[in-house]
Amino acid sequence: MLPSSFDLSEQEFILFKELIRRETGIHLSETKRKLIVARLSKRLRMLNLDNFTQYYTYLRAHPKAGCEIEHMVNRITTNKTDFFRETYHFDFLLNEVFPAKIRESRLTGERVLRLWSAGCSSGEEAYSIAMTTAHAFRNEKGWDIKVLATDLDTDVLEKAVSGVYPTQVVSPVSRDYLARYFIRKQSGYEVCKQIKSLVFFRKLNLMDPAFPMRRRFDVIFCRNVVIYFDEETKKALFEKFHSSLKDRGFMFIGHSESLMQLRELFRYLKHTIYQKA
Ligand SMILES: C[S@@+](CC[C@H](N)C(=O)[O-])C[C@H]1O[C@@H](n2cnc3c(N)ncnc32)[C@H](O)[C@@H]1O
Repeated sequence: MLPSSFDLSEQEFILFKELIRRETGIHLSETKRKLIVARLSKRLRMLNLDNFTQYYTYLRAHPKAGCEIEHMVNRITTNKTDFFRETYHFDFLLNEVFPAKIRESRLTGERVLRLWSAGCSSGEEAYSIAMTTAHAFRNEKGWDIKVLATDLDTDVLEKAVSGVYPTQVVSPVSRDYLARYFIRKQSGYEVCKQIKSLVFFRKLNLMDPAFPMRRRFDVIFCRNVVIYFDEETKKALFEKFHSSLKDRGFMFIGHSESLMQLRELFRYLKHTIYQKA
């Protein structure tokens, strides 16, 4: 019988650490050795393999390696998220970004708004952005509004597309938004069609050398994703975000992150909120 968890030698750890960094940008320190064992042992059992060396060979050379890399990545990513996580970001959208955008449109006639939740996990962040946008623009006419939501983990993207969440998951949503933008289901809530129609979920690896989107964004959220990246990977990613933002576009990052090392690209506005310089 195969064991419930497998040993991971120092040499195997180095191989997996490097493979995971190449595939996802995620940098696993020595303390994360147990994490690899805990999260990947099930895959070894599923594939009837005896040890991590055999799994590594499978990932490099098996005809189904592409599929298995996807399973491995889905198990390694950390997907913790919440509706309206770091509420002040949504207050800033509602009270600063959107009113300025509406005022500007009166002068320029431009009524296009593009927002991006990069590393969207199971969709709570993207739907929070969409609800805030729907609320702010509820009395406006003729706007073309889209929220792009991307992640490299295909399991979380599937959940995100369904838009169905257990009752405890929607607890951070205000009663007003819950009544307006959700439909009660037997075992939870589903995001309503109006909000779903604003959000486009796609698989995208932020490590790809260039992003495929042609249009630039007014707002990018990339929160609690780069905490697992090393400095060099993070810098390269934020250079790409800089190119993907419209002039004076807004960049929102996670509560423990900072862009102070990239001052020439992003102007600090307030805690974890920056503007393209
Ligand atoms: C901790 S969650 C954060 C979710 C959300 N942004 C938030 O702050 O609540 C991090 C997400 O980033 C995704 N991620 C990690 N590396 C990625 C990469 N290279 N490309 C795209 N997404 C990635 C993970 O799959 C995961 O869903």
